[in-house]
Amino acid sequence: MQKDKTIPILGIETSCDETSVAIASGEKNILSNVVVSSLHLHRKYGGIVPEIACRHHTENINIILDKALKSAKMDLEDIKAVSVTQGPGLVGALLVGISMAKAISYSLNIPIIPLNHLHGHLYAALLGNGCPQFPATGLIVSGGHTNLVNMIDIDNLQFMGQTRDDACGEAFDKVSKILGLGFPGGPSIEKRAEKGDPEKINFTRSYLESNTMDFSFSGIKTAVLYLVQGMKNKKVKPPVSDICRGFQDAVFDMLIAKTRICCQKNNSKSLLVGGGVSANKELRRRLDRLCSELSIRLFLPPKGMSLDNAAMIAALGSYRYNRGKFGDPYFTVQPNLGFLT
Ligand code: KG4
Ligand code: ZN
Repeated sequence: MQKDKTIPILGIETSCDETSVAIASGEKNILSNVVVSSLHLHRKYGGIVPEIACRHHTENINIILDKALKSAKMDLEDIKAVSVTQGPGLVGALLVGISMAKAISYSLNIPIIPLNHLHGHLYAALLGNGCPQFPATGLIVSGGHTNLVNMIDIDNLQFMGQTRDDACGEAFDKVSKILGLGFPGGPSIEKRAEKGDPEKINFTRSYLESNTMDFSFSGIKTAVLYLVQGMKNKKVKPPVSDICRGFQDAVFDMLIAKTRICCQKNNSKSLLVGGGVSANKELRRRLDRLCSELSIRLFLPPKGMSLDNAAMIAALGSYRYNRGKFGDPYFTVQPNLGFLT
């Protein structure tokens, strides 16, 4: 087994609305993780406005870098490598982080490690206790992606499935908009679903072909839209909490069903889950039940690390640094980076 080294690695994450800088000293040891979100600036538009996100990153990245160094009680000169999100994400937003990372790398003459944001989300699941056994199933459930992978080890991933339309978090956000619950939708739908009656509204689950590990969430979003429109036309007040409960139950049934297939097909010994939707307590309970049934171990991001953060980028950077895997120093932004590229 590779021995972990306590080398200070700086991680930078600016793929969407969170500007984040973190310092890791080892593959699991996070010394600081500063995250500042521009979410409040996007709320009135009902979604992320790329121009606003970029401006926010530009205005804040230097301040956040200083805070991360201060909180780790370090100077910039103590940093031995810098890892940064290369993609996927918003092109302008990513460029702010990449430019900062390249400037630090050139000026200190230290390696730069470009990373895939989705891989970072999976790595966040390893920042708690314990080490996974492989092969493992990896499930990403974020605002932009829904993926299943077979992890032969941490850095060796096989693509298994993805959404064919909306991402899981995107479906939460769109349904929230239909119900007038604001943006982002995940936390408000989760809260309302807790009060909803599970027997009141039953949405059709879209399992696609029985053996596929792909997902589809656009049908359920349209079903919510038609239901709400139909009620409003009849001057009936939509039962928002019951709709949230029915929607969330259906979405999680689909996630669990495909994750189960992936675990069984690949003989997984562990399940790693990451991305914003993995903050949802009901999803965590269901994943826990699934793993008990399959007798495998579940790994979830620690508190605050389901959503975008640089700790996962710094820690994955450490993992790569320890193995001498630095990547191309002349890399450029890849807004459409796939899961396995
Ligand atoms: O991973 P993330 O921070 O950003 C992307 O990489 O996309 O995920 C953001 C997504 C949003 O769609 C948000 O609605 C969803 O995660 N989300 C949740 C919860 N908290 C955030 N979805 C369901 N339940 C939650 N508690
Ligand atoms: Zn993300």
